[in-house]
Amino acid sequence: MAITVPDITLNNGVLMPQLGFGVFQVPDAETTAAVRTALDAGYRSIDTAAVYGNEAGVGTALRESGIARDELFVTTKVWNADQGYDETLSAFDASLQKLGLDSVDLYLIHWPAPDRDLYSSSWRALEALLADGRARAIGVSNFQPQHLDRLAEESGIVPAVNQVELHPALQQRAVSAYNGQHGIATEAWSPLAQGATLGDPVILAIAEAHSRSAAQVVLRWHLQRGRIVIPKSVTPARIAANLDVFDFDLDDTELTAIDGLDRGDDGRTGPHPDDFNA
Ligand SMILES: NC(=O)c1ccc[n+]([C@@H]2O[C@H](COP(=O)([O-])OP(=O)(O)OC[C@H]3O[C@@H](n4cnc5c(N)ncnc54)[C@H](OP(=O)(O)O)[C@@H]3O)[C@@H](O)[C@H]2O)c1
Repeated sequence: MAITVPDITLNNGVLMPQLGFGVFQVPDAETTAAVRTALDAGYRSIDTAAVYGNEAGVGTALRESGIARDELFVTTKVWNADQGYDETLSAFDASLQKLGLDSVDLYLIHWPAPDRDLYSSSWRALEALLADGRARAIGVSNFQPQHLDRLAEESGIVPAVNQVELHPALQQRAVSAYNGQHGIATEAWSPLAQGATLGDPVILAIAEAHSRSAAQVVLRWHLQRGRIVIPKSVTPARIAANLDVFDFDLDDTELTAIDGLDRGDDGRTGPHPDDFNA
């Protein structure tokens, strides 16, 4: 039976599937097959970025699938080197062309890159894209509360989404609280910590109790905590299993046990957003 992924209603009313498919580090030549496998399994939301170099592969898979455009949710991101008003608009055009689309569902500023000091200008470009309908929703990625405060001071539109590194070892409590208070949906990147979280004995014990995999338990924890998740895999069995997480529930004790695995900044696998300006 087809799996139905629940939607999250973003702050501008746009519906976004709570679980999607990430394609970071998938070579362009392999991306079409991976995305086709995901679409065949039932995923409808795909998360790519200009810097991943695989928007063309994503676009090919979307077209070849024959799935109606309005059933798909496509996210891409402007890279740090393309920040600035005009540069962001040009980067957006290039992304649309590679994807072979007229619009994206969600366009994100990939990192604040604070030393560049251009994310406010980039945000104005995203606001223009939202106004002309070429981005159905706009948001940010890797933004800390101080970066979000600055956008709030300098613009009228609150980001719909903040996509941040988030998994059991790095739970981003301050960022998540800020997002929640301001109507910004929290989206977890590296929701499985690129696999690093899957051998944790607490998670393995919960997995055994439910006859599920560790990855399914971690994804279920994210979903029950209200986050959007975008697990990546190029392995067909894992692609299918990562979507098959809507027919069981973790109880409060299990959720709290996973909450207890937070190691704060020590749990990061990626750079700290304050220091990343590449
Ligand atoms: N905004 C940002 O700055 C940012 C940064 C990083 C990532 N992202 C987005 O978030 C997405 C997900 O993050 P991610 O790709 O870094 O990591 P992830 O989804 O946490 O983990 C992916 C890794 O876990 C393995 N895996 C997947 N499912 C598994 C399963 N069921 N059992 C065991 N291992 C499994 C995959 O292996 P195989 O592929 O070999 O199966 C891959 O090595 C990315 O693809 C990208 O779209 C965004």
